[in-house]
Amino acid sequence: MTKMLEGRIAVVTGAAQGIGFAIAERLQADGARIAIADVDEGQLNRAADRLGAGDDRPLVCAGDLSRETVARDMIEATITRFGTIDILVNNAGGGIIQPFVDHTPESLRTTVDRNLWTAVWATFYALPEMRRKRYGRVVSVGADSVRNGLWNHAGYNAAKGGVHALTTGLAREFALEGITFNVVAPCIVNTERVRAAVAQAPEAVKKYIDVVPMGRPAEMAEVASMVAYLSTGEASFVTGQVISVNGGSAML
Ligand SMILES: NC(=O)c1ccc[n+]([C@@H]2O[C@H](COP(=O)([O-])OP(=O)(O)OC[C@H]3O[C@@H](n4cnc5c(N)ncnc54)[C@H](O)[C@@H]3O)[C@@H](O)[C@H]2O)c1
Repeated sequence: MTKMLEGRIAVVTGAAQGIGFAIAERLQADGARIAIADVDEGQLNRAADRLGAGDDRPLVCAGDLSRETVARDMIEATITRFGTIDILVNNAGGGIIQPFVDHTPESLRTTVDRNLWTAVWATFYALPEMRRKRYGRVVSVGADSVRNGLWNHAGYNAAKGGVHALTTGLAREFALEGITFNVVAPCIVNTERVRAAVAQAPEAVKKYIDVVPMGRPAEMAEVASMVAYLSTGEASFVTGQVISVNGGSAML
């Protein structure tokens, strides 16, 4: 049987570890050829080694994607290596989760840079090729906390809310050009970082799990699975959506 993403070219940002790595693994397993990008070059190369060797090793694009030129170079390198780009997964990000008044100007700027500017620039530079071929799937990893206003998430939600808004705007703008834009919005996810946080301060993390009716964090593979579906041709009539993978913590 043909794999769902056979012949497709995908870029996954923030793929050195965590959810991004799980997404890269899943898209590759579904048949896509992939480029992975991250600011953490050492970890990114280790991730690429784990994903494959020789021709199966992903293209590696290291750098800070909140910088316009880095995002542009990532897209150009992908097109040079594979000839095109079909799928962009804007996963790079991560929260500085704390009360808004405890933020510094620097931590707020970093939060927006990591989560919003990375998605804006990567999308901006991927669009010309997607428009040329009149096909594209842009899937961004947002956050369920934008919907339920989770404690200590205001700064992070400001950035992720921007990603959600970018998605709805672009979905309308390109609705007639074969390009879809969607957000996958997880609740707390069982990543290495979250496991470390639980080990360090279980009470601080508990309240983020207590809001989940299913009573546990999402698994990375559960997030990757939704991203994979939205990346396929099958999801042709799904655009402008924020789809939560959240065990019911925000409904509708
Ligand atoms: N873990 C959770 O509970 C959770 C919940 C909701 C949403 N998310 C979102 O899921 C995505 C993945 O999170 P994760 O938990 O796997 O985090 P993570 O920190 O393990 O991975 C994020 C990756 O993005 C990279 N990155 C950050 N800023 C970058 C930049 N400017 N340029 C290039 N790469 C950059 C990091 O180096 C890192 O490898 C993030 O967007 C995060 O906000 C996570």
